[in-house]
Amino acid sequence: MKILITGGTGYIGSHTCVELLNENHEIIIVDNLYNSKKTVIEKIQNITNKKVKFYEADVSDKNRLENIFEENDIEAVIHFAGLKAVGESVKMPLTYYRNNIDSTLTLLEVMSEHNCKNLVFSSSATVYGEQEEPVYVESMKRKEPSNPYGKTKAMIEQILEDLSISDPEWKITLLRYFNPIGAHKSGEIGEDPNGIPNNLMPYILKVAIQELPELTIFGKDYDTKDGTCIRDYIHVVDLAKGHIKALEHLTKATPGTYIYNLGSGQGISVQEIVTTFEKVNNIKIDYKFGPRREGDLPGFYSDASKAYKELGWKVEETLETMCKDSYNYIKNQKQ
Ligand code: NAD
Ligand code: UD1
Repeated sequence: MKILITGGTGYIGSHTCVELLNENHEIIIVDNLYNSKKTVIEKIQNITNKKVKFYEADVSDKNRLENIFEENDIEAVIHFAGLKAVGESVKMPLTYYRNNIDSTLTLLEVMSEHNCKNLVFSSSATVYGEQEEPVYVESMKRKEPSNPYGKTKAMIEQILEDLSISDPEWKITLLRYFNPIGAHKSGEIGEDPNGIPNNLMPYILKVAIQELPELTIFGKDYDTKDGTCIRDYIHVVDLAKGHIKALEHLTKATPGTYIYNLGSGQGISVQEIVTTFEKVNNIKIDYKFGPRREGDLPGFYSDASKAYKELGWKVEETLETMCKDSYNYIKNQKQ
């Protein structure tokens, strides 16, 4: 299948490209390199020994996107492109709404014009907002996310549902990711954000390679197994494989909108992540406890059974391999 990958040089996109190429799909990447590097293309090609077509372009640039669709007979799109930093979105809401919504609307218009109506969209567990139960299941109604980033995801889900109602030819899958960590086993691709990271694993990695002195664990008095927050961490390669399954399902499915959680279904605490990271990598992570982070929920994790039943997908990696592969990647980058 010929698939357009928006945001394909990014963290999740690059891992998905590798899995798609391994399955002999033909891929075309479009990315404006706002949060990734062109060298990722070479790395994807090195890992898979296959060629990738790359366009450095903004998905909101309608003329460029039209040319890309004219030059390539695209059958489906996986739409990863977007800005994703929660804190930044609070400070720069217009940038987030403009980029994430505009690029999606442009993409949908161009896809419509070219009669390409198969789409997999990167959504997030953030669209559940705060629920009464910590186990998030697709049958729950969306609740308002606490920040502009999350709101763009909820809005795009709504736009896609409306589109699918208005034009019954569309086949759309919304994938709600939980907390992706880990990296490809080659150590070639992974996540290494610029500056001081906000997310847990990138922060632990900076402490591990001594670029930051210590981790602060936000809160130790939550009503959880050890007082620290619970999340559902998923290896990025498992997540990438979920996209292949979603795409296979979509091609056979009747038109409409499909929603799946992509998570492990297991709640892991911050303390457990730190302890496991230390153990499997034989390294000490200095940490202290600090106050709770504003906006953090004590715990949530996925019910991932729908993806298993309907897509035949479930996670294969463990917390140990997530911690090992993350560290392997960062060490490889610093060599
Ligand atoms: P990432 O920042 O590594 O990748 C996103 C890519 O999109 C980047 O390469 C960036 O340069 C590109 N991009 C952004 N705006 C663009 C535009 N207008 N035109 C072209 N390219 C553009 O992020 P990621 O972690 O790989 O996330 C991929 C998707 O998954 C995002 O939509 C994100 O919101 C969503 N998501 C991520 C997480 C997570 O924890 N990483 C969780 C839930 C959902
Ligand atoms: C956040 C976003 C989510 C986004 C995800 C990945 C919110 C409410 N959610 O999820 O929308 O998809 O990032 O970008 O912002 N922690 C520490 N110390 C640190 C960093 C984190 O203790 O230095 C703890 C946090 O309190 C949390 C856990 O680690 O309990 C995971 O945090 P993080 O990696 O930031 O992800 P989320 O907050 O779950």
